Amino acid sequence: MSPKLRVAIGGASGQTGLNIVTALLAESAKFKIIALVRPESVDKEVFVDLQQRGVAIRAVAFTDLPAVVAALEGVDIVISCLAVEQKEVEIGLIHAAKQAEVGRCVPSFFATVCPPRGVQSVRDAKEDLLDHIRRLYLPYTVIDVGWWYQLSVPLVPSGKLNDLVSAPAMSLAGQGDTQNAFTDNRDIGKYVARIIADERTINKHVFVYNEVSTQEAIWSKVEELMDESIPRKYVSSTYSTLGPRPFSGQGNSLWQADEARHLTSCVRVAPL
Ligand SMILES: NC(=O)c1ccc[n+]([C@@H]2O[C@H](COP(=O)([O-])OP(=O)(O)OC[C@H]3O[C@@H](n4cnc5c(N)ncnc54)[C@H](OP(=O)(O)O)[C@@H]3O)[C@@H](O)[C@H]2O)c1
Repeated sequence: MSPKLRVAIGGASGQTGLNIVTALLAESAKFKIIALVRPESVDKEVFVDLQQRGVAIRAVAFTDLPAVVAALEGVDIVISCLAVEQKEVEIGLIHAAKQAEVGRCVPSFFATVCPPRGVQSVRDAKEDLLDHIRRLYLPYTVIDVGWWYQLSVPLVPSGKLNDLVSAPAMSLAGQGDTQNAFTDNRDIGKYVARIIADERTINKHVFVYNEVSTQEAIWSKVEELMDESIPRKYVSSTYSTLGPRPFSGQGNSLWQADEARHLTSCVRVAPL
């Protein structure tokens, strides 16, 4: 039997990280999981629970390079599930992974696919991470997913979905008819388990998705299921002709403009 892969995860308590940890725990014969946790979060219930389920918890300030290097000792794969706002923290993690001679780094992409620069500011921030990784000659795997299902469902006028959809889709890009990739966030762990156990994915971009659809198809399906019509708000696809904007880390208008630019420039690649 091959030895277990030792996988360290930064951001294990987040929406994406927790799904990845859960899927890796389900394959405990293959993976040994280590959660890197900032000290102020270590007492959170989620980490107490993960420890009880067999995850090794290593409390470490991500900005303390020697401490992170020590925490990564013996690790085969480091996966970052930090949010894009934590870009500088993640750059520290990348440097630590290099110093600790980690065999593979999976940076926090889990994103929509579009050209690497000047189209989508969030994408640009992620490409900066990849630049760091490549400059260090650190083996990597980039994983992209399209849009999470969880961000793709609109609300209905009656308010019946308000408590169910925490991050609703607010507008349609262009005419809403561009084909795009969509993935259920709850499936990401199963994809990641498969990808990181596969040597072919070293130094590759992997694009996984559950299905390809359009915003209009999703909105129409919600209308059919809820028996309500949803007023459409279209965002002009001419956004795509605008130059890049610096990522502010917040602001709905920026995210929506990004959505418009992305949806007019989606590239589809065959799944793994
Ligand atoms: N494709 C899509 O539709 C889509 C949508 C949203 C996000 N994403 C991508 O998915 C990835 C993960 O995002 P997410 O939404 O899952 O993130 P999230 O839920 O916000 O989780 C962020 C994680 O980072 C940790 N963290 C925050 N600040 C930290 C710090 N200073 N030091 C160490 N850890 C810190 C948090 O842990 P504690 O607070 O517990 O310490 C938490 O575990 C990102 O790359 C994001 O861009 C993709």
